[in-house]
Amino acid sequence: MASVSQDQIQKFHRDGFLVLEGFFSTEECDSMRSQIQGIIEGMEVPPHCRTEFSTREEEQLQAQVLGKAGLEHWKEEGRRQIAAQESLWGNGSSDYFLTSGDKIRFFFEKGVLDKKGNFLIPKEKSISKIGHALHAYDPVFKQITHSSKVQELGRKLGLERPVVVQSMYIFKQPGIGGEVTPHQDATFLHTEPLGRILGFWIALEDATQENACLWFIPGSHTNGITRRMVRAPSGASTCVEFVGSEPAYDDSQFIPLPIKKGGLILIHGEVVHKSELNSSESSRHAFTFHVMEAKGTTWSKENWLQPTPELPFPSLYT
Ligand code: FE2
Repeated sequence: MASVSQDQIQKFHRDGFLVLEGFFSTEECDSMRSQIQGIIEGMEVPPHCRTEFSTREEEQLQAQVLGKAGLEHWKEEGRRQIAAQESLWGNGSSDYFLTSGDKIRFFFEKGVLDKKGNFLIPKEKSISKIGHALHAYDPVFKQITHSSKVQELGRKLGLERPVVVQSMYIFKQPGIGGEVTPHQDATFLHTEPLGRILGFWIALEDATQENACLWFIPGSHTNGITRRMVRAPSGASTCVEFVGSEPAYDDSQFIPLPIKKGGLILIHGEVVHKSELNSSESSRHAFTFHVMEAKGTTWSKENWLQPTPELPFPSLYT
């Protein structure tokens, strides 16, 4: 990997993202892909876990059981509440999601199950993502996350006590890999102060506009956040709820970031980004993890994701 220059680091601070082509080797990418293949082959999906992963506001609303009156009111407000990239919705799924922070769990695309919970297409083609603790419990992903080049990059970025808060393997399946609507990662991973969350997004296949690469609004990380996803009070009908709303961004504000297999995109916690539905015939696998600068930072107790006694957030530098 080429050394990261000061100009690139300045560019990251200016744009809120940075593309580093060739950060990982083909062999490293293939080792992750083959590891995930083995995990899928051993996957057992209990019927009650056969839940779907959606980012569409309609399903979110339905899942929250707002009811017609609530829905109409909500629509009148004209809000663009957008469902969580990192969350999932469906009957009985709340606990499966909410307790997945220290586990390796499977989440599925919409429309891949019939009403009885049987797969309509092969299950390995149905998975949306695997999360949220591959970095802690799988040796290959643990090694990649804590690799010396990632640690060196962290140091160059000035991170003093970075900890890994979550990881995800994202499939973006051909034809059905769902849209991820515009969002800021800090909506879901809130800290005091802001500006302490950093995403590492590794392309395990070439990501192009055809197979739904990431899109960003350059410089959008400097305006704070407009929306938070917080744990709902106990007894509520849903496990999380949103505070605030997402502005209606103009498509012309976004630029695509195609990237080759092995490339890394650094993502500032407050930069606005999205990806489209993958309507192509090619998948777009990626491994992503998020780091928090823990020095002088408070992790919000209202975040869906919480460190547990079994898995406190591990230091990046170990
Ligand atoms: Fe994101």
